Order: sequence, then structure tokens, then C-alpha cells
Amino acid sequence: MKFHINQRRSRLNAHVRALSATVHLSHKQFIQPLFLDAAISERTAIPTLTMVSTDSSQSVLRQVASDVENGITKFLLFPVPVTKSTYDFDYGFATATVRSIKQKFGSDVWLAADLCLCSYTTHGHCGILNDANSVLVNNDTVAELVRYALQLADAGADCIAPSDMSDGRISAIRNALDDNGYEHVSILSYSAKFASQYYAPFRDVCRSSPAGNISLQDRRSYQISPYNPNDAVLSTIRDAEEGADMVMVKPSVLYLDVIAQLRAELKYKPIAAYHVSGEYQSVELLAQFSGIPRSALHLEAWTSIKRAGADIIISYAARHAHEWLQEGSLY
Ligand code: PBG
Ligand code: ZN
Repeated sequence: MKFHINQRRSRLNAHVRALSATVHLSHKQFIQPLFLDAAISERTAIPTLTMVSTDSSQSVLRQVASDVENGITKFLLFPVPVTKSTYDFDYGFATATVRSIKQKFGSDVWLAADLCLCSYTTHGHCGILNDANSVLVNNDTVAELVRYALQLADAGADCIAPSDMSDGRISAIRNALDDNGYEHVSILSYSAKFASQYYAPFRDVCRSSPAGNISLQDRRSYQISPYNPNDAVLSTIRDAEEGADMVMVKPSVLYLDVIAQLRAELKYKPIAAYHVSGEYQSVELLAQFSGIPRSALHLEAWTSIKRAGADIIISYAARHAHEWLQEGSLY
């Protein structure tokens, strides 16, 4: 009698399921975003992001202390200043906060600072505009980002994470860091950042929604089109060549094909995936309306990101990764 192929033996119990798994998650490869608002004096819940809060310059120290205690040690900072302008920005709040976190926690934490101008500009765009407010001027933006990056490095940031999407920023920042004694500061490039509707909750928090004349009402003239994944591949290869230590795909679960394609192209480069605010909140709302545990829903989303080939996961629920991954019924 001919045997038939039995796949169910490898599914039969948690022992064989664990033995045959090829996708593994560790809380050590998670990055926790931190919102820092200069306009608040206490930790404040964000209505559009369930279970996520914005910190003040004081409360962030308590938050980081509790995260470190729970094994979460890598952070991505989003500083939101009080006053906005169109040029000549004041980075004092961002740098003071970076400095105080590094002074208190030193090498126990790894601090990446988001590098962009959209929370500093009155118009909410990720750079300097021309006089007609119709175009984001690439090289002026890059020069300003370099100035900001040097201040963040001086404050003690371990990593600079440019999210603006201007051309040439990675090499300009790398050169400036190296020339000023910050060779040790790494660059995480938001290299494959798509123009996405799923950033909306984030923009509420950062007061950074874009506005302007008809040609600049959104970020489509500088972020990547969802219809052009080739652009994401080319931009990421370019950023890696310009000196990015790590690259990123963002959003993540909606762009798993791009993660997989980049994994094939950049075999040896660390790839981060950002489960962005709208993706996070979709999961939270499903949990709320269905009664399915949020842990199970986030874990399945994270697993898809890993399966596609990313190394690093940036999630607003990163601080629960350690606990959720230990809970036992993973496989
Ligand atoms: C700023 C920035 C954005 C995000 C990260 N950095 C928003 C945007 O580009 O409009 C999105 C993060 C999220 O939605 O969680 N350049
Ligand atoms: Zn921006």
C-alpha cells in the first residue's frame, strides 16, 4: 500500500510545532517609539492610539526606567516642540531630552532619534519649502537635517533616523557625523517609506499634518508611491550604499512584499519594519470589538513581519514583547 504524505504530524502538538518553526521572535529585536511633547507636563494618553501615551521631558525618565526593568532597552524618540516655524528651528527640547535620558541611563539604553522637520514646520511638511510653498527644496532640507543631526549626536543619541525622504541625506549626515567626531553614531534610514494613510494617528500626536497649496496637500511628492515598489527597492539600495547602517520598510504588514524583496536584495543589511500608528490601531480596534486578546493579534502581525524577512520590529506595543513572547502558547 502506498503511504500518503502526512503533514499533520508536524502540527500535532506544541513540541513538534516548536521544533519545526523557522520564524523566531525575540524582544531583543524590538524598538519602542516614545512621543515627547514639550507642551505637556505629565504623561498623557493618546485618544487615537489605544494604550499609548505621550511623555513630558520628566515623565519619559520614569517610562524608560520601567521599560528597562522589563527588558526593553531600544527606543525611537519623536520630540514635538511647542513653537513651529518655517526655517531656523530650535532643537533645544529634543536635544535636552536626549541628553537627560542618556545621562540617567547611559549605555543601558540605545536611543535612536527620529530626524525630520514635520513636527517643527508650520505647514507640517518634512522640510524647507520654496517661496511659493509649492515644492520641498531638497538641498536646503538636507542642510538643515545635517544641522539637527549633529545636535542630536552631540546630545548623546546612539542613532539618527532620518524620516524625511530627501535625496542625499544619508551621505550628507554620515559625512557630517564622521567629520565632527561622531563616527560611533549609527544611521537608521527610513529608506522605504510609503505615502500612507496609516500615519494619521501619529500626525495627530505630533501636530504634523501637512497643509499647503494644492500641490502640497499631502506627502506624495516626497514619500514613495504604493504603486511603485521599485522605488522602494532603489531608494533602499541607494541609502545602504550612502552609509545607512540599517534600513526600514514602513508601513510593514501592508508592505510585506517589499520587505521580502529587500531581504532578497540586501542579504546582509539589518532591515527594520515599522508597524505604524494606523496598523497598530487597526489591531487595537479589532481586539476591542472582537474580544480577541491584543497580545495574540499583535504577535500574529509581528510574525508576518519576521516571516517576510525583517530583523527589527518597531511597534507601539514593543514594551509588551518580552511578556507576550514568554506566555507559552506561541507555537
Ligand atoms: C515623520 C514621521 C511619520 C511617521 C514616522 N516619522 C509621519 C509622516 O511621515 O507623516 C509615521 C509613524 C506612524 O504612523 O506610526 N516624518
Ligand atoms: Zn516628516
